[in-house]
Amino acid sequence: MKSLSSYFTFVTIIALLFSFTPSSADSHEKFVQCLYNYPHNTTSISNVVYTQSNTSYSSVLDVSIQNLRFFNASSKPLVIVTPLVVSHIQATIICSQRHGLQIRTRSGGHDYEGLSYVAEVPFVILDLINLREIEVDVENNTAWVQAGATIGELYYRISQKSNTLGFPAGVCPPVGTGGHFSGGGYGFLMRKYGLASDNVIDAHIVDVNANLLDKETMGDDLFWAIRGGGGASFGVIVAWKIKLVSVPSTVTVFRVPRTLEENATEIIRKWQLVADKLDEGLTIRINMGRVSQNGNLTVQAQFESLYLGGVDELIRLMQKSFPELGLVREDCTEMSWIESVLYMAGFTSGQSTDVLLNRTQLNGVQFYKAKSDYVRDPISDVGLEGLWPLLYEDEAEDAFVQFTPYGGRMDEISGSETPFPYRSGNIFHIQYGVNWQEEGDEASKRYINWIRRVYKYMEPHVSKSPRAAYLNYRDLDIGVNNNGYTSFSQARIWGIKYFDDNFNRLTRVKTKVDPQNFFRNEQSIPSLLSKGRK
Ligand SMILES: Cc1cc2nc3c(=O)[nH]c(=O)nc-3n(C[C@H](O)[C@H](O)[C@H](O)COP(=O)(O)OP(=O)(O)OC[C@H]3O[C@@H](n4cnc5c(N)ncnc54)[C@H](O)[C@@H]3O)c2cc1C
Ligand SMILES: *[C@@H]1O[C@H](CO)[C@@H](O)[C@H](O)[C@H]1NC(C)=O
Ligand SMILES: *[C@@H]1O[C@H](CO)[C@@H](O)[C@H](O)[C@H]1NC(C)=O
Ligand SMILES: *[C@@H]1O[C@H](CO)[C@@H](O)[C@H](O)[C@H]1NC(C)=O
Ligand SMILES: *[C@@H]1O[C@H](CO)[C@@H](O)[C@H](O)[C@H]1NC(C)=O
Ligand SMILES: *[C@@H]1O[C@H](CO)[C@@H](O)[C@H](O)[C@H]1NC(C)=O
Ligand SMILES: *[C@@H]1O[C@H](CO)[C@@H](O)[C@H](O)[C@H]1NC(C)=O
Ligand SMILES: *[C@@H]1O[C@H](CO)[C@@H](O)[C@H](O)[C@H]1NC(C)=O
Repeated sequence: MKSLSSYFTFVTIIALLFSFTPSSADSHEKFVQCLYNYPHNTTSISNVVYTQSNTSYSSVLDVSIQNLRFFNASSKPLVIVTPLVVSHIQATIICSQRHGLQIRTRSGGHDYEGLSYVAEVPFVILDLINLREIEVDVENNTAWVQAGATIGELYYRISQKSNTLGFPAGVCPPVGTGGHFSGGGYGFLMRKYGLASDNVIDAHIVDVNANLLDKETMGDDLFWAIRGGGGASFGVIVAWKIKLVSVPSTVTVFRVPRTLEENATEIIRKWQLVADKLDEGLTIRINMGRVSQNGNLTVQAQFESLYLGGVDELIRLMQKSFPELGLVREDCTEMSWIESVLYMAGFTSGQSTDVLLNRTQLNGVQFYKAKSDYVRDPISDVGLEGLWPLLYEDEAEDAFVQFTPYGGRMDEISGSETPFPYRSGNIFHIQYGVNWQEEGDEASKRYINWIRRVYKYMEPHVSKSPRAAYLNYRDLDIGVNNNGYTSFSQARIWGIKYFDDNFNRLTRVKTKVDPQNFFRNEQSIPSLLSKGRK
């Protein structure tokens, strides 16, 4: 990961040897031959190339599918490459262009709409599952993390070296750093330290010309774009250098449920007034869903919290700022930060931190659909009370609505510092999600309709012009590109929802680094120069 300069001469020679003209889709045999012919000076590529006739093709494809909706997708990749070294990535980029194939890059496979492994065109998956080295430098409080590593692996490696260092990324351990850091990435340290992408200090990316670039050689614009603008539009990210953050050796957690009968609505009303103004070491998120109490349905709001300090200080803060929750000492547990990572991920207490290395979801893979919103003015009681009946409907049996507070560090970073624009002025972020078990289109349609109705219902209560959304909670309902040429104005429909005004700069960066729009998908940033390119 360190000797970048040696790659440049190597790549220049390759570029000369491999000048190409893009063609329409060839047979994938020619593509595979091209991969084999590409000079890989250290590690042969043939052990990491899977076509549909390889016996392990399906298991390699399926292992990182994190949404059952796309498990049996009719359009599967012609080839999967699981690179071991950078030259395998470079070869895949060069040969895909030569033979008219698209690339979908996959790190953890958590894309909500399956964009990292499903496409309606002939395509190759570049799956970074083998590139997951992590080097933690406790002297300088930094780490190099390869993009195929998961956040669970990262947290685990940090904890092996220090119990007072952490990293502000997501809650679910199998999430990949490739997608997660390039789209933002948040969890219980966001109010103190911002997003994962706010703590990226260098990166290695392979661009459309197969050049391996670092922060210096990629330049300010591209380095800006990949910290929140999504990696998939710009190249293949190989590794991130991140700044680790300090955490106290003792933190405190709690998870306190309140049903409607226990005044949940009133408590949520008060939460909206204080959640973004609390001490930035205190994060209280709310998970709402329906529960059954002796046969009667009600809504339960679960208040889930991490406090960066001991229980005495937490109780004092809560009595001062949020007594309505009625938190008592017995609700709270002191632990180390890494134990809190397990707690928030849903593991039972006392489990070994090794479980963070497991790339399988704790509750198994499900069918799901999710959407997101931002809230700038508190939602009225009437607004909340209109949401509850939706949670009693049949499709909402395994549905949730989650409120995550902003404020703290998020207020200090300007909206244009990275592509992620939603900082000060937002009280909280909402995720709506629905999971189901039944197979088939008919079931999918019913559950997806349910969540679309929830989203429609919430419209008057959330941000407008644009109605903001979070890229990492990918939602193709908010707009998509054509399968071919997409105008700036068409892409802007979804683009401003994720990026607000930053969409304009993202488009300029894309036009500069990938003018022919090779790296594209249903929601990739358009190039202003690729008119007519199929
Ligand atoms: C169960 C679950 C829990 C989650 N929890 C959180 C959370 O707590 N906080 C949060 O912020 N988000 C969360 N997310 C959302 C998550 O951040 C995004 O889905 C993220 O994009 C996943 O990254 P990935 O590498 O696993 O996904 P992938 O599906 O591999 O990739 C996602 C996108 O990034 C692109 N991409 C991936 N790797 C690279 C690369 N190396 N170079 C260029 N482009 C690349 C893909 O092509 C695709 O477009 C969660 C998602 C799930 C399913
Ligand atoms: C390829 O070989 C060159 C020269 O021997 C070396 O400098 C370079 O690091 C090698 N590339 C890889 C990917 O190992
Ligand atoms: C896939 O099959 C081909 C042809 O049998 C073989 O050469 C290649 O090594 C196989 N790939 C893997 C990863 O086993
Ligand atoms: C995928 O298809 C197979 C074969 O038809 C079927 O057995 C399996 O249940 C399907 N899985 C999903 C998740 O739809
Ligand atoms: C810390 O950074 C310095 C300066 O960049 C470097 O010389 C040193 O090797 C780093 N420490 C470790 C343990 O890598
Ligand atoms: C709910 O609020 C009412 C009115 O403020 C109060 O009397 C009652 O005790 C509360 N119930 C619970 C369970 O806290
Ligand atoms: C459930 O509803 C019935 C009828 O409204 C009511 O009599 C009963 O007390 C309720 N049970 C609980 C636990 O609230
Ligand atoms: C990984 O987690 C899954 C889901 O919880 C579990 O079934 C599996 O046994 C775990 N694997 C290992 C190696 O622990």
